[in-house]
Amino acid sequence: MMLDRMLNGLPLKAQNQIYSTFDNLNVLASVGNLKVAASMAPSAVRGLVLGKARHGDAVPMVSGHAAHFDLTYQGDFPEMYELYRRAVANQWNGDRDLDWSTSVDPEDPDKPVMPLDYPPFEGLAAKGIRLNQKEKLRFAADMASWTLSQFMHGEQGALYAAAQVTESVQWLDGKLYGATQVMDEGRHLEVFLRYLDTKLQKVYAVNDNLFVILDDLLTDSRWDVKFLGMQIMVEGLALGAFGTMYNFTREPLLKQLLRYVIQDEARHVHYGVLALKAHISQELSEAERREREDWAYEVALLMRNRFLSHELYYEWFEHKLSLKDWDEVVMNAPSMAAFRHLMFLRLIPNLEYIGLMSDRIKAHYDKSGLTSFLGGKNATQLSGEDLIRDIAAYKVEAR
Ligand SMILES: [Fe+2]
Ligand SMILES: [Fe+2]
Repeated sequence: MMLDRMLNGLPLKAQNQIYSTFDNLNVLASVGNLKVAASMAPSAVRGLVLGKARHGDAVPMVSGHAAHFDLTYQGDFPEMYELYRRAVANQWNGDRDLDWSTSVDPEDPDKPVMPLDYPPFEGLAAKGIRLNQKEKLRFAADMASWTLSQFMHGEQGALYAAAQVTESVQWLDGKLYGATQVMDEGRHLEVFLRYLDTKLQKVYAVNDNLFVILDDLLTDSRWDVKFLGMQIMVEGLALGAFGTMYNFTREPLLKQLLRYVIQDEARHVHYGVLALKAHISQELSEAERREREDWAYEVALLMRNRFLSHELYYEWFEHKLSLKDWDEVVMNAPSMAAFRHLMFLRLIPNLEYIGLMSDRIKAHYDKSGLTSFLGGKNATQLSGEDLIRDIAAYKVEAR
């Protein structure tokens, strides 16, 4: 309320500057656990304050984790070995298995990459912004490029996280499995990049909030935090986002591409929950477990509240609407509800399975309206085909 009073009457640009600053500070101020806030702060400063992801050609990210060199050469985790065999058998070839000769026009109303029921046009109209048909098609095409660009940036992060985790896990079978995930993430980076480059021909920079999460987990020296961040949280986010896009898109090449990627991601999350359940229940003290639990909760909220495509706002509506109104429009859009549903449908049961859902933290998730997903199937009970089926079923119910 106080913020509203401050903003009232100021020019749009000043309103947006004040709103963004408060919003960024809010991320850290809202973190209840001081240790968690301290571990996130450097990444938040690099991403939100210094805008590292928006300047230059590369960002160095230094990590202090140790490689765990195994001397026993014993099979030590049969379920991970089984996943490794399955991953080797199911490798696909991004060049050969996708039909890159498909012609794609992101503004084609008959085969849209992102159909017009995805962007928040109704919410915008309620704020007095009406686009004509041509503008709507162009905006939807930009939104497709923005979304797929974030997928590509996330996949680059996943590639490095998978490599780091492969070095540091203590199970030899985990290292074998991890090697297949490194290949998977490399292929995901390849196909999203190729689709953006040759079909959409427009790439957006990495979103600041996504950058904060990636920077935080790639620079953390604790392997299980990387693991939790990448294999559970970011993979959960990715499944929500890929699933929503898979449901909405009418463009056949992208649909097939997403189907392959989602099936790989199902294995990645499966591996993540196996490793973390064993580690959290056998290795961590209660205080360490609690810190992971708090960290996961903060990242979950960050993922739910902050992927609001500000880059599109600045490109399209900066002089017509305040950033605060834009956030409200995006948060309330039906496509965002679909994304949140698919993300938390998978995430919450996984956190429960690995032991990061005590009654204490449950109360917080409950306040955020997220406990309806408790008791759902976790990643060890779901194949890639199950995921695709659940994703497609949600579309029928929701729309
Ligand atoms: Fe991936
Ligand atoms: Fe992955």
